[in-house]
Amino acid sequence: MAFNQEQFKDIIAEFTIGGERLHEIAATFRQDLQLGLRDVTQSSMRMLKSYVGLPSGKETGEYLALDFGGTNIRVFKIRLDGDGKFEILKRVGRPLIVPGEYNYISKDATAEQMFGFIAEMIDDAIDGDHETKFYLGHTFSFPSTQDNLYNARLIIWTKEFATQGVEGEVANDLLVEALKRRGVNNVEPVAVLNDTVAVLLSAAYKTPETFIGSIYATGHNTCYLEPSIHDANCFGEGGMILNLECGNFSKLVPNRFDREYDEKSEKPGEQRFEKMVSGRYMGELFGMAIAELLGEKGKNYDLTSVDMSAIILDESENLGKATDIIMAKVGHELERDDVAKIRELASAIVIRSARLVAASFVALVWQRAGSGKIQKQHVAVDGSVYEKMPLAKENITKAISELLGEDAANVDTILDNGGSGLGAAIAAAMAVQK
Ligand code: GLC
Repeated sequence: MAFNQEQFKDIIAEFTIGGERLHEIAATFRQDLQLGLRDVTQSSMRMLKSYVGLPSGKETGEYLALDFGGTNIRVFKIRLDGDGKFEILKRVGRPLIVPGEYNYISKDATAEQMFGFIAEMIDDAIDGDHETKFYLGHTFSFPSTQDNLYNARLIIWTKEFATQGVEGEVANDLLVEALKRRGVNNVEPVAVLNDTVAVLLSAAYKTPETFIGSIYATGHNTCYLEPSIHDANCFGEGGMILNLECGNFSKLVPNRFDREYDEKSEKPGEQRFEKMVSGRYMGELFGMAIAELLGEKGKNYDLTSVDMSAIILDESENLGKATDIIMAKVGHELERDDVAKIRELASAIVIRSARLVAASFVALVWQRAGSGKIQKQHVAVDGSVYEKMPLAKENITKAISELLGEDAANVDTILDNGGSGLGAAIAAAMAVQK
């Protein structure tokens, strides 16, 4: 069977964003941001205060960092040496789900179980030392409100997390209780921050002229330094970093696959932008479009963004690897031409994602520049999609050029690998060293 050409063209068009629309999306994003700066209830983004500005770069000392934001939890012991230098002294990492063994993110799991698991990892990171005092920075990458650097309270789970008893609670309190239950009384969480904020702190510690931080991975979100916000509880320099929670940006037109996926997702109506761009969701959209092409609408093939990446990377003449992946997941032995179409579809979904993300970055660059010149700057990005997904980074760069013209020479995106851990340690240092 060969795919229907018209239907295929129509699906590709659904995932294509031309130059004019790209401009409109960037402008709408900026408008939504400006609305939120005046009155946050008017924006589709939560625009959460982080209570940190930029680090001075002189932060020093040994800290624990907990990176809790996806299905892999990591705990680090990090020594900051100032001048952008640091060393990771210890690293412990474990997944929150091992299929068939345990699952701490499902509806059946409780806050006690989840934080108990994390406390055990922290205990391992300090080698069971219950004497030495440790300050901990906690990267908690879910939308949370806070009015100081410690007390982030989870508003709502995102990224399909569903553990009971965490929404509405202060994450650090749950952590402290779990540590106490294990007899760990010498670890004191002093800072909690979103992963985007952690990436920005980490990048700014090493590379001056960085004001925007973003995660492009399982989830997607961006923060930036807003110079006009000052608060007595805010540590650091240059104003306050706002965690936009732009995964929830919803003032753009979804296509029929976006709409259909949203309806069956864990939280319909929420995180519309994230569901169009991030790694957790690209595989879902891909699978839905393939099901339509195969006349199996509604069938779930369990395709992931990792499959998409492998399919796009197959540049061989016979597309053997891509054919095998499709056979294994979709259950059909497809002709080479149809495999090539599926490969084109995967590329279209990734390119749309990269263009949307780039439009949001440009909106922030415009916002920071106001009516002035666009200054030389870096946008720090961490995450598997940015780092590993073929076509992602190059299409971000291309879209930034399209949107900024010659000013694009002043703006580049830089990978800040592992920034979530380092940023948490820097935030802890900022809190402790004032
Ligand atoms: C989700 C979370 C957000 C986080 C992002 C990346 O969008 O709501 O807080 O920054 O994922 O991990």
